Amino acid sequence: MNRKLIAPVPPMGWNSWNTFYEHVNEKLIRTTADAIVDQGLLDAGYEYLIIDDCWSMKQRDEHGRLVPDPDKFPGGIKSTIDYVHSKGLKFGIYSCCGVRTCADYPGSFEHEFSDAEQFADWGVDYLKYDNCDRPNSLSSIPLYRRMAMALRHSGRDILLAACQWGTEHVEQWIRSTGAHTYRTTVDIQDCWKSITSIANAQMEHAPYSASDCFSDMDMLVVGMYGKGMNPETSAIIGGCTDTEYQTHFALWAMLNSPLIIGCDVRSLSDRAREILTNKELIAINQDPECRSCYRLPVYVNPDAFILVKVLNDGDYAIGFFNFSDTAVRIPLHFWDMGLSLSAAAGMEFHDCISHEDLGLHKEVFAATVEVHGCKVYRCHPVKN
Ligand code: GLA
Repeated sequence: MNRKLIAPVPPMGWNSWNTFYEHVNEKLIRTTADAIVDQGLLDAGYEYLIIDDCWSMKQRDEHGRLVPDPDKFPGGIKSTIDYVHSKGLKFGIYSCCGVRTCADYPGSFEHEFSDAEQFADWGVDYLKYDNCDRPNSLSSIPLYRRMAMALRHSGRDILLAACQWGTEHVEQWIRSTGAHTYRTTVDIQDCWKSITSIANAQMEHAPYSASDCFSDMDMLVVGMYGKGMNPETSAIIGGCTDTEYQTHFALWAMLNSPLIIGCDVRSLSDRAREILTNKELIAINQDPECRSCYRLPVYVNPDAFILVKVLNDGDYAIGFFNFSDTAVRIPLHFWDMGLSLSAAAGMEFHDCISHEDLGLHKEVFAATVEVHGCKVYRCHPVKN
């Protein structure tokens, strides 16, 4: 019997790390599960609730098993997972291919098969698998193969989210391990510079990302406004403007990244909710063909560019992005997408952020894009 794909399109969900850092507990997970449903995020597609590092005791028990911290999870982890499932969500947990996790809790090195079994028994649906504290002499390649194999033999469908930070040319070998997503960059921070540097680094690797094994540009910082408890992503760094969060979300959507929310969804601003639940941008990210986009340069400004993504129904998603500090008028000549003057009457444009129809345009379309802003259109070629 064929197994169904675990990640046919980029996974969507929420992760505790950026905002809550080590302060994870049962109450946070339960109230976040409630908020994901009540805020309409599950309906928008955010189905995984993922607890990051720091959920366990600092040592394994005498049988070598991971022990959930009883102060953080007085009712145990299984009942928390059952609650998450009862809300219609899937549950994700965190471990590491090294001896210790990045925050110094027990990692799964040499415990891969028993940990995978324990996760399956608890009803885990997703494992974020980090890359800290492995023996210097060992490449991460066999360790990701090992956990992928352990999960595949656990008897449960568990998505493997490799958190490998883009080292060892991860994009070239990770699909062959059986992992479903793989981090390609350092940790995101709640600031504009971090967003643009991840996006710029990602573009050359985009062609490697495809169905059932997606490049993960890290969690979304949309809606954090500098309020995270993680010292690396916190107020010291400052947060972003709503325009910058909108551009960040549009980039992650166009580049087929998993969409994993990192803000406190229990106190979501209206604007952040609007950005995160934009159905038209989510549809571009979740397009069944999962084609990577291509980039067209903008000659008047090297920090502005156009991304084009071929969609399953014959439409094209076209994003105009401005990373520079001045507004830019960005022209798109249709022949740069292959649409010759003789072949078509033009393209109908629909704005995926303002949700307006902009009618038929011929040969060229120019968008004026504000500082750090973007425009994303769904375009439909019209025959002569
Ligand atoms: C690494 C990962 C982060 C987070 C922390 C947890 O830095 O890249 O996303 O999981 O570890 O310690």
